[in-house]
Amino acid sequence: MNRLAEVCDYQIGVERGVLDRDALLAGVREANGLVCLLTDAVDREVIEAGARLRVIANVAVGYNNIDLAAARERGVYVTNTPDVLTEATANLTWALILTLTRRIVEADAFTRAGKFTGWDFDMMLGSGITGKTLGVVGYGRIGRAVARRSSGFGMQVVYCGRDDVAFRDDPHHNSIMLARQGQTSPLSQSARLDGLASRRVSFYQLLETADVVTLHVPLAAATHHLIDRVAFARMKPTAYLINTSRGPVVDEAALVEALRERRIAGAGLDVYEREPEISAPLLEMSNVVLLPHIGSATLETRTAMAMLAVENAIDVLSGRAPRSEVRL
Ligand code: DGY
Repeated sequence: MNRLAEVCDYQIGVERGVLDRDALLAGVREANGLVCLLTDAVDREVIEAGARLRVIANVAVGYNNIDLAAARERGVYVTNTPDVLTEATANLTWALILTLTRRIVEADAFTRAGKFTGWDFDMMLGSGITGKTLGVVGYGRIGRAVARRSSGFGMQVVYCGRDDVAFRDDPHHNSIMLARQGQTSPLSQSARLDGLASRRVSFYQLLETADVVTLHVPLAAATHHLIDRVAFARMKPTAYLINTSRGPVVDEAALVEALRERRIAGAGLDVYEREPEISAPLLEMSNVVLLPHIGSATLETRTAMAMLAVENAIDVLSGRAPRSEVRL
């Protein structure tokens, strides 16, 4: 706030929680810039209400809460906060993988309930990950940071990128992509630079081979319900699903069904289809770990995200191009 005050007047919409829609609409009316959170639906109506708006600075790397086309039509910059949250989100993803596969939440509850009455050879057996395969869906900054950590756990990595997801049902794309395997696609080049022995595969190959499937794609038309009944049917019954991206990437009803019918072994979720609502059956399942969307929630990271969003807004208000613009 001190930084903003050096440059412009500002109004705080709400100190905690989600800003009421009418307050958002009223607040943008006179504003030149909007610094907003992923819980603010900055749709066409809001953008049109802000006749003087020049920048919408989202305090998140995801920007599915903003109507990019409407912003572009009115010449409004949209910015996000990449990079600063990559490591925190990758760490939280691994926290979910380990917590789920080693049954940490169950074991903690068991111990607190006084049920640990003596060491037992086969008590709380989990599932080992060493020597198994991690499937990373979406190989951008966060996907790669998650993959990098796998070497410490002795996991092999298979991944698919944005195009492999978007063209997942196009046999032409898949055959070209598979024929190119081992050649120098930009993605495999960057994986090699990172020192990773990861292998690019098609989306469906990934589902069929991975022991842990972790999602790192942005929410868009091509990724809405990417993990649906068809996807669950392709996964191994022993596989785990991890989602720290956006809730609607997973069809939550299909997830509940897959877990109930033991078509997958478990799920670790930080995000939900209708956040903050969570499908009730998930709350009852012991092979599910549920977090309240805290992927980037460390003090250091949230501070860096807020500062980056503010600097983006200041850039535009000072007549400069913003440092992290979202481009269509
Ligand atoms: C993001 O930045 O998109 C995250 O979901 C916020 O934690």
